[in-house]
Amino acid sequence: MYHSSAPGKVILSGEHSVVYGHPCLVTAISLRSLASVEVIPEGIIEIISDKLGSQIFNTVEGPSDEGQGLAPIASVARSALEGADAKNGLRIRIESEIPLGAGLGSSASVLVAVASACSNALSLKLTPGDIAELASVGERRAHLKPSGVDVNIALRGGAILFRRGGPLERAEYPKGMKLVLGSSGSPRRTADMVKRVADLAESSRDLFSLSMRAISGITTRMSAALAESDMASVGSLMLLNHLALSLLGVSSESLDKLVNSAISGNALGAKLTGAGGGGCIVAITPPGDEQDVSQWIEGAGGVPFVVSVSAEGMRSWSD
Ligand code: MEV
Repeated sequence: MYHSSAPGKVILSGEHSVVYGHPCLVTAISLRSLASVEVIPEGIIEIISDKLGSQIFNTVEGPSDEGQGLAPIASVARSALEGADAKNGLRIRIESEIPLGAGLGSSASVLVAVASACSNALSLKLTPGDIAELASVGERRAHLKPSGVDVNIALRGGAILFRRGGPLERAEYPKGMKLVLGSSGSPRRTADMVKRVADLAESSRDLFSLSMRAISGITTRMSAALAESDMASVGSLMLLNHLALSLLGVSSESLDKLVNSAISGNALGAKLTGAGGGGCIVAITPPGDEQDVSQWIEGAGGVPFVVSVSAEGMRSWSD
């Protein structure tokens, strides 16, 4: 059996603007997805997921692929089978600690783990860049024009300043850095939120352009502040980022409420993270104050949880 695991992510600044070529500051987190893959004689792709149930797909794309759910995973497995010119099939088991539709990169972490475990099971000798490309086959099915930030951080771990089509730049962050997350409890589809921003780009060009410029500057300054462990500046920039994202129309009343409650609880900064519309906020706190801020988030109706920034990207092994 071939296993691979990959982390989820938190975007500290640059969601949405990254789709339009601006930088994005993103960290891998201590929640991971695991894919376990075996080659089977039957020419089918069987997927068994702890969160999305089980489904059998043909090795040739067909009606079973309609809709969301497990179809993006099947398309990655199918591309791997094609790459290996294999006539047999794959059984894929998936377990994930990352909540779905919460802006924490659950789909990319699953797709990277699946791409890696399938390629190892089929003895494809893929580079990290090839695995990113294979996982992106599924991301393109799941989202509208994905920037690639989620797949790249799931693969590489740590923190990166990502730019679409640009070279990957590692970002420095304080050792042992913790993040407080607050789930609004309402899931949302990334594709819908990306479409909302695309519509704004058409209907209000100047507001769109101003928001992009603001977020781009915030991201660059936040990356520099993070590298210097200047967490007070990181926090203020997070708040500004949240306001710019609100102008883009991707916040919600409950996300604003959670951000406000985190700040009332003395967080250094907080913002929505990921595509927005629902999902999670992220807050940073002075070291040791994570539980206090969590309580404020809970008091505002959110579900808090504390994660660490994780240096570990994708990992593979077999037994
Ligand atoms: C999703 O994690 C981040 C977005 O910027 C979409 C993308 O980058 O593809 C909203």
